[in-house]
Amino acid sequence: MFIKGELETFERNHPKSKKLWEKAINVLPGGISHNIRTFGLPSIGGFPVIISSANGPFIKDIDENMYLDFWNGHFAMILGHNPPEIQEVIRKHLSYGWHFGTNTKQQIELASRLIDDNPSVEKVRFCTSGTEATMYATRLARAYTKRRLVAKAVMGWHGASDTLCYDVGGLVNGKAPLGQLKANEAGIISFEINHDDSFNIIQKYSKDLAAIILEPILGGGGGFPVSIDFLKRLREESEKYGILLIFDEVITGYRFNDSLFQNELKILPDLTTMGKIIGGGFPIGAIGGKNEIIERSSPEDKNQVLIGGGTFSGYPLSMIAGLKTLELLKNSQQQYIRINDEGNRLIQHLNHYFNDEKLAIVASGFKSMVMLHVLSRWIENPSIKEIIEYADKKREALLQLALFNRNICGLHGLGALSMANTHNHIIQIKEVIEEIAQPVSNSLLN
Ligand SMILES: Cc1ncc(COP(=O)(O)O)c(C=O)c1O
Repeated sequence: MFIKGELETFERNHPKSKKLWEKAINVLPGGISHNIRTFGLPSIGGFPVIISSANGPFIKDIDENMYLDFWNGHFAMILGHNPPEIQEVIRKHLSYGWHFGTNTKQQIELASRLIDDNPSVEKVRFCTSGTEATMYATRLARAYTKRRLVAKAVMGWHGASDTLCYDVGGLVNGKAPLGQLKANEAGIISFEINHDDSFNIIQKYSKDLAAIILEPILGGGGGFPVSIDFLKRLREESEKYGILLIFDEVITGYRFNDSLFQNELKILPDLTTMGKIIGGGFPIGAIGGKNEIIERSSPEDKNQVLIGGGTFSGYPLSMIAGLKTLELLKNSQQQYIRINDEGNRLIQHLNHYFNDEKLAIVASGFKSMVMLHVLSRWIENPSIKEIIEYADKKREALLQLALFNRNICGLHGLGALSMANTHNHIIQIKEVIEEIAQPVSNSLLN
């Protein structure tokens, strides 16, 4: 059986990871510090590898296995791992100390950079994660509009805050995550992307709606682009009803071009949340947007909206690595074009292959974001709804395992290309997927 052979190979090649994993599950709940980092492997009798280092397009585990990395640190490492230019500025700064709990010139410079690059960003507030940024952005919106409700996209992932962690696991509405208020008690309503019905929901609640928040491409939800027409109409309707539009660009910001994705879409929101790439691989979150809204977080405002706290807000190393990264990205137009084209072609090629062979796998994504979904049966050109409804998480875990066995590290199937990926790497990934797709698709796992 395919799975038996794959598990045996995996165990044989990862004795040190296995030993440490046994220790991990005794000291960390589920053995991890972020839920998806199990890669689903325990559900099929495996365990995640323990990583020791990374360089360029490669990541290495403690058993000395090298992988071509498409996960790239939750989409953050667009330059690849350990770029020498970032290492240099960080090393230099380490000699000055790294945490002051004061203001630094670099946070002014990074804010200025984000403002210069993005017309919708007139002012910036930094925090340490995308989760905080989205939580604060909706708080600002509620205070600014004096309204109670926030509308979020079903399957939209904005972090696991009490504010926005609703409807992240499927298209079925209403279930509150354990330990959280019910969505209606928390003032959250949900809508489906690319659906006309969503506008009826928005209209129905318009008087109480403070904000609509969504990612222009659903990332954690599965790599599903929101149509430009849908986004345009959201902009129009939100303006009509005085609702703030928030784009969560934690993944899409600086991923497809050297600024926020909204500039390419030519649809400007009132607020934008950012993270990942803009911190150059160090922890960061940021809220940017209209001055009159963001300025409400100033301690000088007598109606101040409280944003932070945050012992590590504007963390110097994140500011420095972020600044250098954005500087390097300014000179990377050709690289952006290259990885965007490679990604688009890879998605198209794989979907043709899966359809021709009637395999229960689908590639989704946009440009350099490339994800794979394994379904419980073959469906020709499945809709987003079908991809979610027929998701087979165990077979998806088998896919991840088979990729690791062939020296490829991915999550959500693959994840995102970095500028360190060459054309040959893309050929390699295609060949590997074509080798394993059939046995993964045909495996029966309960
Ligand atoms: C679109 C989006 N928003 C917010 C977040 C939360 O960011 P963080 O993990 O930095 O808290 C994520 C994380 O994956 C994300 O993808």
